[in-house]
Amino acid sequence: MEYGDYLRRYVSRTSKSRRLFLRAQKLFPGGISHNIRYFEPYPFFATGARGKQLRDADGNTYTDYWMGHWALILGHSPAPVAGALSRQVKNGTLYGVTNDASVELGEAIQKIMPAAESMRFCSTGSEATMYAVRLARAKTGRRVIAKAIGGWHGFNTTLMQTVNYPFEAEEGPGLVQDEEQYVESIPFNDLEGSLKVLENIKDDLACIIIEPFLGGAGGIPPVDGYLKGLQEFAKKNGALFILDEIVTGFRLSLKGAAHKYGLEPDLFTLGKICGGGMPIGVVCGDREIMALADPVARRDKETRCAIGGGTFSANPVTMVAGRATLDFLAKNRQVYAKIDRLGEMARKGLTKIFADARIQCQVTGSNSLFLTHFTKNNVKDATDVATSDRVLLTKYHLALMAEHGIFFLPTKMGAISFAHGEPDVKKLLAATESLVQAGLFT
Ligand SMILES: Cc1ncc(COP(=O)(O)O)c(C=O)c1O
Repeated sequence: MEYGDYLRRYVSRTSKSRRLFLRAQKLFPGGISHNIRYFEPYPFFATGARGKQLRDADGNTYTDYWMGHWALILGHSPAPVAGALSRQVKNGTLYGVTNDASVELGEAIQKIMPAAESMRFCSTGSEATMYAVRLARAKTGRRVIAKAIGGWHGFNTTLMQTVNYPFEAEEGPGLVQDEEQYVESIPFNDLEGSLKVLENIKDDLACIIIEPFLGGAGGIPPVDGYLKGLQEFAKKNGALFILDEIVTGFRLSLKGAAHKYGLEPDLFTLGKICGGGMPIGVVCGDREIMALADPVARRDKETRCAIGGGTFSANPVTMVAGRATLDFLAKNRQVYAKIDRLGEMARKGLTKIFADARIQCQVTGSNSLFLTHFTKNNVKDATDVATSDRVLLTKYHLALMAEHGIFFLPTKMGAISFAHGEPDVKKLLAATESLVQAGLFT
């Protein structure tokens, strides 16, 4: 079958979504409210979700591997979270004042990650990383922030640099030169190259902020020694080491990537999973650094780091959903054994199918996260991902959707949740095999 056949099949199965997309285009630039949610010919419109499944406006169901931007580690509307949410919704959704639920979620996070000595809740990961780098500048009195080429920390202005390929080009109109001059980018997984860049800016270096595992850029684990090398440089040179654990926290292990890779960041950011499917961001870490944002002890504006607003910060709905999720994860360690095993099964199975068919590719990822890259190169950074055959990957993901009811947001990493089972991974492998046999990749 040709790719065009899969496209036609998708279009024939999604006529209500197509009409919704036409309406959406009149409302939202590009018809969407998050840039990456668009794919060709148009995205289907979800009307419901349960467990591992997404349902669209035409009644199609998909086994979901996108899982709410990888946030839904327990699946869609898992019983403990749904129960906590329905109780809370009847008891107020936004108090707009301090509340007991925030203390409980904060304590739950701290119990799992004691390095979160002090924290601030906000509503998105983008806010959390913006706050983290602002705290770093406040603490050090320096200006420059180092981030990885291809590293994604959300859409805040400061960190919206070297995100999209070609990475050296500016990210587009609306971002001004003044902002860019204080952000330096380092090559992920190349310690020598990174240290060379850092050495040149060390006197004004406020922090290194890094995803321990490149998520949005393509599911790339760190090579041995890379993160520790950056941490050592930061600590030796009076800069902060900030780990962006918005994807990896409660995902690569209950205690996150810091635990997995033996890191001790000064600050770290959390999001996604710890909101239990509701909006969240958390900036946390060293008590003394976080105290710079204390508006009670530091009434004087000159000494206080201005972070910590947000109408919806620490709203009780997010707080109870997050707490129900973390409680479940802490009490049910078999979650990680299961999702990690299924992740490994997917990576190994896909690698074998493509290798047997002599299709050049590499399946990257870690634990319950995975992504296929059609390339002959060893995928170690965002450039390797961006220069792989993304068109073929888009076709693969669209064909899975159209022909097999399996959903990956095209070109994005897949995530396994506790709601998935071995039959789902087997179905993914069988579907991939049948697309290979049908000649999609040749
Ligand atoms: C590593 C990382 N940091 C920050 C963010 C931004 O989080 P949010 O989309 O909640 O603003 C994301 C989002 O995907 C992310 O992957």
